[in-house]
Amino acid sequence: MWSIPLIAGVAFFSVYLFKSVKTYLELRDFGGPWSAGWTRLWLLRCHLSGSINTQFTEVNDKYGSTARVAPKMLVTSDPELVRRMNAVRSSFTRGPWYTSLKLHPESENIACYTNEDKHNDMRSRMSHGYSGKENVHLEQDIDDLILQMLDLIEKEYVAKPEEGLLRRMDLARVTSYFTLDIISKVAFGEPFGFLKANDDPFGYAANMKQFLPAIGWFGVYHELTNILRIPFIKASLPGSMDKRGLGRVMGFARERVLERFGDEAIVRQDMLNSFIKNGLTQLELEGETMLQITAGSDSTASALRITAHFISTSPPILERLLTEAKEAIAAGRVSRPIIKNSEALQLPYLQACIKEGLRVYPPITGMLAKMVPKGGAKIDVDGVEKYAPSGTQIAWNSWGLMRNKEIFGLDADIFRPERWLASEGTEEMQNHMLRMNETLSLVFGYGRFGCLGKVVANMELNKALIEVCADAFREGKLTNNSSFCYASTSNHVTLKNLLRSGVLGFTFTTI
Ligand code: HEM
Repeated sequence: MWSIPLIAGVAFFSVYLFKSVKTYLELRDFGGPWSAGWTRLWLLRCHLSGSINTQFTEVNDKYGSTARVAPKMLVTSDPELVRRMNAVRSSFTRGPWYTSLKLHPESENIACYTNEDKHNDMRSRMSHGYSGKENVHLEQDIDDLILQMLDLIEKEYVAKPEEGLLRRMDLARVTSYFTLDIISKVAFGEPFGFLKANDDPFGYAANMKQFLPAIGWFGVYHELTNILRIPFIKASLPGSMDKRGLGRVMGFARERVLERFGDEAIVRQDMLNSFIKNGLTQLELEGETMLQITAGSDSTASALRITAHFISTSPPILERLLTEAKEAIAAGRVSRPIIKNSEALQLPYLQACIKEGLRVYPPITGMLAKMVPKGGAKIDVDGVEKYAPSGTQIAWNSWGLMRNKEIFGLDADIFRPERWLASEGTEEMQNHMLRMNETLSLVFGYGRFGCLGKVVANMELNKALIEVCADAFREGKLTNNSSFCYASTSNHVTLKNLLRSGVLGFTFTTI
């Protein structure tokens, strides 16, 4: 009587077993944690742990520069392979992992298209807006918000020991407010108002904290993205009519998009205008504005806060940076009140600090998995050729890439800006520096998938870091005994270890 369900069960289990063994054997040449060859649970646990960066690095250190982290997923810390997969003429494509980056219930965005033609088309239509070529206010907009951030720091956080006033600043929050206001200002002409309120008026940060683990689930079990089509689940997602959270931010973005259409359309030479000029529809624009906000804020805020953290907790580094800034200001090589981007590029120690901050804590540690094309691919793993069949996804291990001791030296785990300064010397030393620079540039992705917001991010870093430091000795602002006290309480994944180790409060500077 129950033999039919039994037979069906046995048949199902046999097919499952056969498939699992076949998949296991296909990538058996690659080392990796044993369970990762049979189930995606190892990867899910790693993704949700908040320490994907260190766990991937342990895997690559132990099992080779390209190793297995799920039945059909490899992870690589090999810069050559990352360049090969991302190159303009590469036959590798985006893997299904990218579908987890769909942030809008109705509309896709440039970061989640897995159709190569659609992605290329959108990229060519959006690159001018992102690059600043069609965004004449870019530098001025950033300057205005730096001044607003400095005002906020001065009013709320500068300590005045002579008055018995010692205040702590949550560096994580202020840097997030700053980058969120910048992205909304440069993208669609109006800052959200985080800095002005010195608060999260939309409840955005709290909502993102809830929302981000979903990217982990959907990235590992990409089939789950289909459940988002079920009406009652779709209805529970953030929407532009929400009063708070991500939905409210969506609503704000939607309002800015709507303002550009109709009889009384606002015309302003910014990113949004450039996208409209290049033919993006209203729905596409709504999807893209959501991506701009998420891709453009936490990444740069991470870079800012971690670099400020390392500079301000190392007195010799801080002193050297301030000396460089003071001398440049005295020599008239730095515009006031805010340094020009072109001037910041001429300050070698500042540039070295920025590079080192991006290197020791690469802001994007998510998988960005590319897919092996039809016919499979031969992969060189530390001098041994291995074969990955078509359909295998290969994630990047940005942390492992940036802490490669062979490329960056035995002290690669340490924040030491000086490593970027030795540009003279033998041909061998110059080649070494070239290799370091080429590897670091991968922090923004590469080739046809490279970051479109790199110009904006670099401009923010070039200006904000030095101005926050220079603010300490700006005329009339601080006395010789003044100091900033910063406290970092970020919950950003890459800062989790800092939080655990309790490095929370530190004095910024005393001039
Ligand atoms: C320090 C800050 C930043 C870092 C380290 C960074 C890094 C990256 C990386 C690694 C990628 C993905 C490459 C891939 O898929 O292989 C990416 C993509 C992207 N980033 Fe950034 N990013 C930063 C800031 C920004 C900013 C400020 C914006 C917006 C103004 C932005 C907009 C984008 C966009 C639109 C894409 C998708 C490009 C595409 O699909 O072709 N990013 N970024």
